[in-house]
Amino acid sequence: MKNIISTLIQQELRRQQLELELIASENYVSLDVLNAYANVFTNKYSEGYPWKRYYWWQDWVDRMELLTQYRALAIFDLVDEYSSEKEERFVDSSFSIKELIDFVGQASPVWWVNVQPLSWSPANLAVYLWLLEPGDTILWMDLNAGGHLSHGFKLNASGIFYKAVFYWVNRQTHLIDREQVEQMALEHKPKIIVAWYSAYPRRLDWSRFAQIADKIKQKYWYKPYLMADIAHIAWLIAWGELDSPFPWFDIVTTTTHKTLRGPRGALIYFRRELEKDINRWVFPGIQWGPHEHIVLAKAVAFGEILKDNKVWWKKYVKQVLKNAQTLANTLIDRWWKIITNGTDNHLVLMDVAWSFPELGLDWKVAENTLEKIWISINKNSIPFDTNPPLRPSWIRLGSPALTTRWFASEEFMQIWDIIDTALKNYNNSKVLNDLKQQVLLLAQKFPLPYEFNK
Ligand SMILES: Cc1ncc(COP(=O)(O)O)c(C=O)c1O
Repeated sequence: MKNIISTLIQQELRRQQLELELIASENYVSLDVLNAYANVFTNKYSEGYPWKRYYWWQDWVDRMELLTQYRALAIFDLVDEYSSEKEERFVDSSFSIKELIDFVGQASPVWWVNVQPLSWSPANLAVYLWLLEPGDTILWMDLNAGGHLSHGFKLNASGIFYKAVFYWVNRQTHLIDREQVEQMALEHKPKIIVAWYSAYPRRLDWSRFAQIADKIKQKYWYKPYLMADIAHIAWLIAWGELDSPFPWFDIVTTTTHKTLRGPRGALIYFRRELEKDINRWVFPGIQWGPHEHIVLAKAVAFGEILKDNKVWWKKYVKQVLKNAQTLANTLIDRWWKIITNGTDNHLVLMDVAWSFPELGLDWKVAENTLEKIWISINKNSIPFDTNPPLRPSWIRLGSPALTTRWFASEEFMQIWDIIDTALKNYNNSKVLNDLKQQVLLLAQKFPLPYEFNK
């Protein structure tokens, strides 16, 4: 009898190996990160935090979690003089847990990080439970302008328990309308303002949000908290060449599984001066026993970013950017409409409905067509779309996953050629079949780093 579990894994692996992944929020972990998931920390209950656990025998859990925190702070350059040699002390039993806590604290005097959240959405909730009372107001970007479903949408706890108000982008430029953010903030007096999104291809001026918070303080005598959700752009900030929210914001949250190429999970960074105690709202506020085996896999992923002074990471990030820009430029050359006419990051929003109205395309036709040729993309709501939300005009494409497979600009140009031809011939099964063969050949040329039984 076939082993059912191994069949399931092999079939999913086969799918991942053969398709071209352009969903902007997906990526592939390295073999080291993948192997790191399977470790014996999974056997241990460790409610609490280093030196403050509910059960005994936590010495190695504490050391491991502190190492993960140290690396998590280091990837965003929040520790003074990170060096991998200094990490030796986490496995040196002549250093006590208290000494290690002090060491991380001294290395990062301004910021602290909770590495336990199982995912971003619960981490998000922990922040609100920490800082707000039910019914308090939060200011987010509207879902239809590039925000995320967990940003105050009625289906999510954030929209059920808190009053959500939204800002938009400018109708002509599709860039954040700073004046409107300020106007909304002054009108609604939010306790938290959230910046960064799921579908915004341009840079953000973080300092502008700090100015808005100051204006509220002048007018109403309180300062709203500023929270950055950098789930999509954490990789660019870790690169260190794009503006960082850390100098301006109070709380920064991110997923670990998108561009950071780690295991599924999240991080909450917060200024120590705010430490009313966010930690208490992660545990016991929203979750119980931490998944310490995943915390360890986070340390492995962060170690890959920090390796050799980020040399490898910078090479990867530069290529992600180059590939996204190649995508945007090639599509523009083929007369497709691209929101904001380009991108500063890894994602490109492409108008499939109105670039060539005579084709009768929308996201559904586009998604089905690309699925037939083994290319994976996702639909996206986008500002001022005249199509209804369930049939939006746009699709979102991203370059991180294929760049992990070391597709370079040349291959990306070929992919955009394939997409262009497929969408313009979506009724022609012969053309689609030829394109599928091209896709499969490309995918096999750049295999995933996992063991694959054909
Ligand atoms: C900006 C942003 N925040 C949060 C999330 C949700 O993260 P998670 O799936 O870890 O809850 C996403 C995922 O799509 C996202 O794009």
